[in-house]
Amino acid sequence: MKKQREILVYVGMSADLIHHGHVNIIQEARKLGKVVVGLLTDEAIASYKRMPLLKYEQRKRVVENLAGVDRVIPQKTLDYVPNLKKLKPAFVVHGDDWKTGVQRETRARVVKALKGWGGKLIEPRYTTGISSTELIAYTSKAGISATERMARLRRALETKDLVRIMEVHSGLSGLIVEKTKAKSRGRAVEFDGMWESSLTDSASKGKPDIAVVDMHSRLQTINEILEVTTKPIVVDGDSGGLIEHFMFTVRSAERLGISALIIEDKIGSKQNSLFGTAAKQLQDDPKNFAEKITAGKRVQNSEDFMIIARIESLILEKGMKDALLRAHTYIAAGADGILIHSKSNTPKEIFEFCKEYRKFKIQVPLVVVPTTYSQVTEDHLRKAGVRMVIYANHLLRASYPAMRRAAETILKYGRAAEAEKYCLPIKEVLNLIPYDFSS
Ligand code: SPV
Ligand code: MG
Repeated sequence: MKKQREILVYVGMSADLIHHGHVNIIQEARKLGKVVVGLLTDEAIASYKRMPLLKYEQRKRVVENLAGVDRVIPQKTLDYVPNLKKLKPAFVVHGDDWKTGVQRETRARVVKALKGWGGKLIEPRYTTGISSTELIAYTSKAGISATERMARLRRALETKDLVRIMEVHSGLSGLIVEKTKAKSRGRAVEFDGMWESSLTDSASKGKPDIAVVDMHSRLQTINEILEVTTKPIVVDGDSGGLIEHFMFTVRSAERLGISALIIEDKIGSKQNSLFGTAAKQLQDDPKNFAEKITAGKRVQNSEDFMIIARIESLILEKGMKDALLRAHTYIAAGADGILIHSKSNTPKEIFEFCKEYRKFKIQVPLVVVPTTYSQVTEDHLRKAGVRMVIYANHLLRASYPAMRRAAETILKYGRAAEAEKYCLPIKEVLNLIPYDFSS
């Protein structure tokens, strides 16, 4: 007897936090035939929303064990079409919520593909009152452990082609990085983590960026930021100081749940890099600096903690060859990432470095800080092989002119009414920061 062809039903899902909405969809699907779940890979999820809480393999184990699921295969893009073309299922089942919003285009492509073999799209009513996004918002209110936060940067580097980091200098600026979302080219985008900058931490305290705000104070500020946020934090460790002091800094950073410390290969009295050669600044001997990296790596307890080496050769006009040589040395010493810094007003030298870096046999994630060459786009950096971009000072720089304008306006008019339009309404200030953890 001829074997009857199986009727395949395709269900695409992220299944990061499983709830009864997922079960409803699978139950509808199983009425129609054999259920194949196209489980979005970590990279596919990260490409259009946030990084998943659980890894692909973990999510796969959960979904495989749901009643009604016959098979789980990876869906490597947000787009269903590559998998649909391979399987040619008779049905695709998806909740009707994707008729609007970010997934609208994905849906249109599914409808078009199904026409190719007479397949049908079935769209059960979306289960209201529950969504993974809401569940995640709820869990983030409950906070995060230090170890889990620390690991999130490595995961972001594993799953995203470019990790976006934004400067913070206080709890309030931390909340802005935590919560700000925008739409860019039809996709929801947000920052992947925070940069605690020596420049802006010092400036927000009215002090110059010369390490006069010491590590003790920096860690205090960082702790305040960590208290009100859940995203990973990358900390500007200046030069890391003496090797024997740096080892203590690594331990303190790990304890707080800092994901990465970036240390720069400078020595002696510290000045901000953007002064370049206008201020007297000395670069460390590459061997000494390599020793510092190795010492830090030796004392860290967690596998996830990262030490990123920042090369100042281009800042100090020591040339590309020196920068590349140092990159080799620091990677060999155990650096988990390389930050190549530049104060040029074009990205030319950064792209030159990237081109040579791509030839390295052993590579670690490449980090850049496009402050002076801010016209460069993330797309260009990504194509050049950059894995992390740090917007190093923009929240502090944005707040200063706004504060000054309000102050000047009050002086000018002898009252506050005219300054109101520059200020956040008091009610919004009160609502900005929730203090009831259960709400
Ligand atoms: C900082 O933000 O403190 C930095 C980056 O170290 S830069 O200001 O460009 O040196
Ligand atoms: Mg700094």
